[in-house]
Amino acid sequence: MEVVILAAGQGKRMRSVLPKVLQPLAGKPLLAHVLASARALGARRICVVHGHGGEAVRLRLDAPDLVWAEQSPQLGTGHAVLQAMPHLSNEARVLVLYGDVPLIGTATLARLMDAAGKDRLALLTVEVGNPAGYGRILRDGAGRVTRIVEEKDATPDERLVREINTGILVAPASRLRDWLARIGNDNAQGEYYLTDIVGLAAQDGVEIVTAAPDDVSETLGVNDKAQLAALERMFQASVARGLMDAGVTLIDPARIDVRGELHCGRDVEIDVNCVFEGRVELGDGVVIGANCVLRDVQIGGRTHIAPFSHLDGTVTGEACSLGPFARTRPGTVLGNEVHVGNFVEIKNSTFADDAKAGHLSYIGDASVGARVNIGAGTITCNYDGANKHRTEIGDDAFIGSDTQLVAPVRVGRGATLGAGTTLTRDAPPDQLTVSRARQQSLAGWVRPVKKKK
Ligand code: UD1
Ligand code: CA
Repeated sequence: MEVVILAAGQGKRMRSVLPKVLQPLAGKPLLAHVLASARALGARRICVVHGHGGEAVRLRLDAPDLVWAEQSPQLGTGHAVLQAMPHLSNEARVLVLYGDVPLIGTATLARLMDAAGKDRLALLTVEVGNPAGYGRILRDGAGRVTRIVEEKDATPDERLVREINTGILVAPASRLRDWLARIGNDNAQGEYYLTDIVGLAAQDGVEIVTAAPDDVSETLGVNDKAQLAALERMFQASVARGLMDAGVTLIDPARIDVRGELHCGRDVEIDVNCVFEGRVELGDGVVIGANCVLRDVQIGGRTHIAPFSHLDGTVTGEACSLGPFARTRPGTVLGNEVHVGNFVEIKNSTFADDAKAGHLSYIGDASVGARVNIGAGTITCNYDGANKHRTEIGDDAFIGSDTQLVAPVRVGRGATLGAGTTLTRDAPPDQLTVSRARQQSLAGWVRPVKKKK
């Protein structure tokens, strides 16, 4: 099977410099969704028909299984498919998809392919309440499809037909080639209609079959930002449904956004307004508080993430607690039962089991040992203006509040750093290290008073 994806439309109504098919839905371009469906079906080759200036699309999504055909000027959907024909083999069955119809599902397409068999023309059609704007499927007395008439060319009687053309179809390549050579543009829009191949197929005695989508949303196109937002919600609703079917507790399924892959263990609970990006794995019993953003993270079982946390490129062990307002950046690896409290930023650092950083700290390029307690306001000074350096903190160390660790520097096992220490040399194990001006009190000191004039 080979696939043609029509993507030459300008998408003027998006009012954007970004081509329509690159507009994101669930964090990836509309066209990428269609490509994923085509690939899931096992397409051997995919030809994308793009318009003038389609380089941005190509730059973003090019891959070895894609061929690109330019269509300019755009003379209609039949003319668009014609541009792809030189790239398709004559023996193939051709599936026509649309770059701006992103929710088309593989189960629906597999059924359409089955209906097509080796040599039939198969149309994906749907019965709608209001068919305005769509091509109508016309059938004879025996129920056989005879042709498709576009709204603008239809008689009042034909307009009453509620079975509409979604545009998605499957045809044998050799037949398609022949039909496309025979269609004209003598119609209300002066365009070469792909839909005209249906009448030719009927005349040629080729069997025409139809299939319906699992869900109407699969056939909806995107022309403006309102439709884009509507499809985003439909997509997210189906993701939410899938999560709940798998046993995930969503406090409000209307308030979750998955822009990538979210894999959940048993008894995971997700509060409102969370965003998941990239690949996220949540272990058994994980609880995610409201308003968290998680990108490319792996969270160990029974870990709790409190509200407003932002975790990126992070792996945690089991039974950790993070947040509220925790920020972890790529390269953060936490052991079991680690605690990361509010306003703590961690980057490219490891925390061994039971380590804690409760409040207001920056820990970058550090290895933190087991059971280490990092006091409030601790900062690793990892950057000297030119290079990054590491801080190593041994097991059971205690870092007093408001400490600066000027890297490269090491804190020995069991060492204690007094509050306010600026550590510039290694601290030996098991000792108290403190660096601050000795406290003194001046007995005879008098506070100055304002002079009277
Ligand atoms: C088309 C169908 C109509 C169907 C409707 C479903 C035709 C003649 N009509 O109508 O039966 O009910 O879709 O939405 O096919 N495109 C190109 N090059 C072109 C023209 C269009 O690539 O020269 C692409 C567009 O980017 C778009 C798709 O084809 O993705 C459909 O084009 P559009 O103009 O929206 O077709 P409709 O008139 O809506
Ligand atoms: Ca359309």
